Amino acid sequence: MKTIQNYLNSGAVDIAPLLCLVLNKSSGELITQNDYLLTPNEKLNLDSFIKQRASGMPFSYISGKKGFYHLDFKVSPDTLIPRPETELLIDIALDLFEKNYACKMLDLGTGSGIIAITLADKKPNWQVLAIDESSAALTIAKSNDITHTVDFLQGNWFEPVANQPFDLIISNPPYIEEDDSHLDDLNFEPIRALVSGKDGLDDIKIIINQAPNQLSQKGFLLLEHGHNQQDRIVKLLTKNFTNIQTFKDYNSKNRAVLAQLKNPTTNNLNENR
Ligand SMILES: C[S@@+](CC[C@H](N)C(=O)[O-])C[C@H]1O[C@@H](n2cnc3c(N)ncnc32)[C@H](O)[C@@H]1O
Repeated sequence: MKTIQNYLNSGAVDIAPLLCLVLNKSSGELITQNDYLLTPNEKLNLDSFIKQRASGMPFSYISGKKGFYHLDFKVSPDTLIPRPETELLIDIALDLFEKNYACKMLDLGTGSGIIAITLADKKPNWQVLAIDESSAALTIAKSNDITHTVDFLQGNWFEPVANQPFDLIISNPPYIEEDDSHLDDLNFEPIRALVSGKDGLDDIKIIINQAPNQLSQKGFLLLEHGHNQQDRIVKLLTKNFTNIQTFKDYNSKNRAVLAQLKNPTTNNLNENR
């Protein structure tokens, strides 16, 4: 038989949050009830979670949830675990339009649905659509949309909404280089959520090339990207976009780009149509 304190002394990775999860107790209760003896069932569950965590499985896949912005989201190994950097996209998007503007917005590569659902919750008068190629990810995203405010569609980037115009397109696409050494630490997450060709820009290039056909006049494209990709992305945007703004994340790393569609009468947009 083991007590909470025995486990706290074990040094196992994330032992306190794992205890909270299995025993449904707060971290404060772990301290005040540290002589609590785990039942055989609780011990069995905890030992199995400790093993999974020790093998490298992220805590969020064991708990099945992750907080993002002001909401909690279900996650599974079919979805990327939401990153705090992505909250930057929400802050930028919330500042873009007049308070009562009924923005039509598209979230490309929605994964667990964090961007679409967070913005739909913050802006109830927006019309929010979200696309992912992974039907397994979309099942999780739909289960996170408890008020059913987002339209989720399956397909390859813009394919399910071809020729529909949006005021705002947001994407946190895969952007890691295929031989990036950090991938060794991410082997529990879906590879199609992470990797995008040799320079990590394959998907970003597709989105930048196709976005002009999917934006309303002066519509915005907002992209998350890798910390070393910003200059190349700005260059790719200059042909069809104006008012290009770059953003750093809360760790001061280059992380996002916002651009506005050029007026078609003053540029060579037709080449792209
Ligand atoms: C970096 S994850 C972002 C997930 C979520 N938006 C977030 O920020 O946590 C990229 C997502 O793009 C999706 N994806 C990859 N290729 C795609 C494609 N060709 N068309 C649509 N979605 C795609 C992946 O399935 C994954 O869910």
